Amino acid sequence: METLNFLTKNKASEIRENFGSPAYVYSESALKKNASSALSFPNKFGLTVRYAMKACSNASILRLFDKDGIHIDASSGFEVHRAIRAGISPEKISLSSQEFPEDFVDLFEKGIHFNACSLSMIEKFGKVFPEESFGLRINPGVGSGGSKKTNVGGPSSSFGIWHEQISEAKLLIEKYKLKVVRIHTHIGSGSDPKVWEEVAKSSIDLLRHFPDATYLNLGGGFKVARMSDEPQTNLKNIGKSIRDALSVFHQESGRKIHLEIEPGTFLVANACSLLTTVKDIVTTGNNGYSFLKLNTGLTEIMRPALYGAQHPIIILSEKESRNSRNYIVVGHCCESGDLITTAQNEPDSLEPRELSEADIGDICIIEGVGAYCSSMCAKNYNSFPEAPELLICENGDLKLIRKRQTLEQIIQNEIQI
Ligand SMILES: Cc1ncc(COP(=O)(O)O)c(C=O)c1O
Repeated sequence: METLNFLTKNKASEIRENFGSPAYVYSESALKKNASSALSFPNKFGLTVRYAMKACSNASILRLFDKDGIHIDASSGFEVHRAIRAGISPEKISLSSQEFPEDFVDLFEKGIHFNACSLSMIEKFGKVFPEESFGLRINPGVGSGGSKKTNVGGPSSSFGIWHEQISEAKLLIEKYKLKVVRIHTHIGSGSDPKVWEEVAKSSIDLLRHFPDATYLNLGGGFKVARMSDEPQTNLKNIGKSIRDALSVFHQESGRKIHLEIEPGTFLVANACSLLTTVKDIVTTGNNGYSFLKLNTGLTEIMRPALYGAQHPIIILSEKESRNSRNYIVVGHCCESGDLITTAQNEPDSLEPRELSEADIGDICIIEGVGAYCSSMCAKNYNSFPEAPELLICENGDLKLIRKRQTLEQIIQNEIQI
């Protein structure tokens, strides 16, 4: 059975008493430890770590990383604005997006960096900023993700400029006298470390097409073990071979390449726990299942229902000794797909999980929810309000970093006719 990452039973009870549940609880120590590991990624000619803010966009988290010297990867114009509002200076923000923002001119004039992610984006950029410097996100032809839905490389992915279209990209670059200073490849979330390393090394070859490029951004995608039996990417190991490959490239070409990485998951995934309450327990008989119904679900954590992702689940009971029991853990949405214990990579399949025997009212902690949970959920479905976010500071203080939403806030933009 899985164990708690950083919460204790007493702390969890105290938080529930004061802030209710469900609630996301972050650990500042864990966030800072992850930041320091990412900042030690091996490099030869300099490193910029960009936090992929889509993983968790709370302003306090962005500021915490900013203080530690981490820059930002934004994936929409709105994320850029959000980071700027959080106090991040525009020069530290890089935009790589599926959609070219309507107010791009304003954003670029503020000083952000930009990676064009399609041929039409080069055209749009060139028209408004001829002779400017920018980056290209290339789909290197290979991808790898924890699930098919998080693989963003190869022929089935629309992300980036297809590697065989580089000559078309060059024609547009010449047309607008643009300067490509950065090559960007991000191949997926939860990537196989071997594939990541291979693609990273082959990305160095892409630099040969663009003699002005001095930055190589290898994206994020470092596999994090949420469950105790899952593998985890070792940043030092994969980083060393990239550093060596960049050394060889320097010897061959005389070019000193500054490395960028863009972790989202690695920085936040295991630094947040979701505190929930068991609201009901039902059964479908001897040939069926025992279901634990929690006061969370798609509204706070979609990853199991979307990808078949596995998250540790821990029941905190008032009773001292407990037997274990197999449960299907489900969410509170009126949706049979609101499942928390799905089979690995099979979001439609129920997979019973052995947990401590639970009672209605027990606290239930779901671990590993820092990435793609509070920022990526079915917000307000069934009119459940957005859950609060709390930070346990290094000195043990507890800070509220997002309030629970009110019903008034859910309906505030509706117009009654
Ligand atoms: C361009 C880019 N960079 C970085 C990331 C972060 O990936 P991860 O959270 O797997 O580290 C993503 C995630 O999709 C991305 O699209």
